[in-house]
Amino acid sequence: MSWSSPGGPGRLAGDGAVVARAPAKVNVHLAVGPLRSDGFHELRTVYLAVSLFDTVTVRPGDGLTLTVTGEGAAGTGADAVPTDRHNLVWRAAELLAERAGVPADAAITIDKSIPAAGGLAGGSADAAAALVALDALWGTHATRGELTALAARLGSDVPFSLLGGVALGSGRGEQLSPVLARRRWDWVLGIAGEGLSTPAVYAELDRLRVEGRVPDGEEPASPDPVIAALRSGPVPALAAALGNDLQPPALSLRPDLRRALRAATGAGAAAAIVSGSGPTVAALAQDEDSAVRMAATLAGEGVYRTVRAVHGPVPGARLVG
Ligand code: C5P
Repeated sequence: MSWSSPGGPGRLAGDGAVVARAPAKVNVHLAVGPLRSDGFHELRTVYLAVSLFDTVTVRPGDGLTLTVTGEGAAGTGADAVPTDRHNLVWRAAELLAERAGVPADAAITIDKSIPAAGGLAGGSADAAAALVALDALWGTHATRGELTALAARLGSDVPFSLLGGVALGSGRGEQLSPVLARRRWDWVLGIAGEGLSTPAVYAELDRLRVEGRVPDGEEPASPDPVIAALRSGPVPALAAALGNDLQPPALSLRPDLRRALRAATGAGAAAAIVSGSGPTVAALAQDEDSAVRMAATLAGEGVYRTVRAVHGPVPGARLVG
C-alpha cells in the first residue's frame, strides 16, 4: 500500500473541523451461503444506499476522544453505541493512523440518525465517514482503493458504506461490483424499539439450517432478477424480486416482526422485507408521495419506534460543506 507523506490538514472549517456523512443501506437481495471456516458466511447480496445519514465531525485533538449524539446514543442493549475502542470509528481512526504513519490525534463526534444494530449498517456508515473525514484532517491523502482496503478490514459492510449507490457484494459482502440503477426507489423504514445482534441472527440461521427448517444455503438464490428490476423498474418487478435469507432467523428471534411486516403491507407497501439482519423493516413504496403517506400512517399506528421515508440510490461516504 502506498501512502503519500502527510501534507498537512485537508478541508477545514472555521474551528478546524472536518465533516463527513455516510448513508444507511438496505439489502434488496441477501443470499447467504454456508458457514465458512473463518466464521463468516459466503454472501451474494445487492446493497442499496438510502437517504438516512450519520454525520461524523473530526477536529484536531490530543489522542482520540469519541462523542456520540442523536439516535441510539443512550441505548443499553445490542443497540448501545460505545464511545471507546469497541466503536468501529475508533478502530477506523487507529487503522488509518497506523497505515499512514501519523499519530491518532482527533476529537471525533458521531451524530447518529441511523439506528445502531438495526440492519442498516449504521456502524459501518460511521466508520466509512470517519475514514474520509480523518484522511482530510490528517492530510494522509489515501486513494479510494486504499480506503476501501482499510474499510474491508473493519467490517463486511464498510466498503459499501464508502462506495454507496447500488452494488453487488460477494465474499463476506466486502467485494463489490457497482450496479446500474436508472431510477429512484422510495422506501419507508420502520425502525424497531430494540436492536438485533448480527452474529446472533447468523447463528440462528445456522441453527434453523441444521434443523432443516430453512434451505441449507448450498444453492443461494441468484441476484439477477433483482439487478434486472433495479435497472429498469417497474415497482412490482422489484417488489417480486426482493429476498433476504436472514429474514427467517430474524423472525425466529423476534416473532413480533411479523406484525411489523404486515403493518407495512397493510399501509400500502408494494413489498416489505427485513433489512439485513434486522430488525428494521424496509417497505417499498410506489413513489415518493405514497412513501410519505405510508410513513404517516405507520407512525400513527405505533408499531415502530421510528418511521422514516427515504430514497435510494444515494452516494457513499463524502465530505460535507
Ligand atoms: O463483518 P462484520 O463485523 O459486520 O460481521 C459481524 C458478524 O456477522 C460476524 O462476526 C459474523 O458472525 C457475521 N457475519 C457472517 N457472514 C458475513 C458477514 C457477517 O457470518 N458474510
